[in-house]
Amino acid sequence: MTGELSPIDRAKFVAAKRAADMVEDGMRVGLGTGSTAAWLVRCLGEMVRDEGLKIQGVPTSTRTAALAREVGIEVVSLDQAGWLDITIDGADEFDGDLNLIKGGGGALLQEKIVATASDQMVVIADAGKEVETLGAYPLPVEVIPFGWQTTRKLIEETLVSMDVLGRSAALRMNGDAPFVTDEGNHILDLHLQRIGNPRQLALVLNQVPGVVENGLFIDICDRVVIGFGDGRVEVR
Ligand code: 5RP
Repeated sequence: MTGELSPIDRAKFVAAKRAADMVEDGMRVGLGTGSTAAWLVRCLGEMVRDEGLKIQGVPTSTRTAALAREVGIEVVSLDQAGWLDITIDGADEFDGDLNLIKGGGGALLQEKIVATASDQMVVIADAGKEVETLGAYPLPVEVIPFGWQTTRKLIEETLVSMDVLGRSAALRMNGDAPFVTDEGNHILDLHLQRIGNPRQLALVLNQVPGVVENGLFIDICDRVVIGFGDGRVEVR
């Protein structure tokens, strides 16, 4: 499954592998989205095939659903599962309080719903995702297409009073067209550089009409499994 891996892929793989070992028979498992989460899905698929592991997986995107089916994981919807034992997902940034920026892959809405509906959320990440202060990575905000430019203006005005350095909100593109999420929405990437008060910003952003959800995950992540390029793993 792994072949010759670059240091970054090895870091993602070893983190995913360690987190896969936290999954037990009979669990209902939230399956994240992104390149690190894809390693997790492949690891779980291998455990289903070779060790007879029995789980139900709730994917957080159409991409993850397709991969999970491909590797033999039983896929159910969140409503079918009701509540999840564990969700394992990647992140774009995490800080010392295990607050996260997510949504680099555009799946933040389903990811936040699924993680919140779980007994525990475990983040898997390469060591480069750890930061002292969130915000160097652009913060994704999912907005409905209707009036998105007005929503952007309102967000930028809101940012003026917040403890952030940057203010610009860029519409995420997919080639020449706006990126469209699984829910048919757009993403604004907020270039903030430094988010002094992520808890407050997360609340304030969701008050803006047109905003569906933002990529700040506050008090949602319980543990982080950090992979290193030399194959070491650290669990916090
Ligand atoms: C997708 C996400 C991903 O978890 C995040 O972007 C990390 O991705 P990767 O594992 O590819 O670095 O939030 O919406």
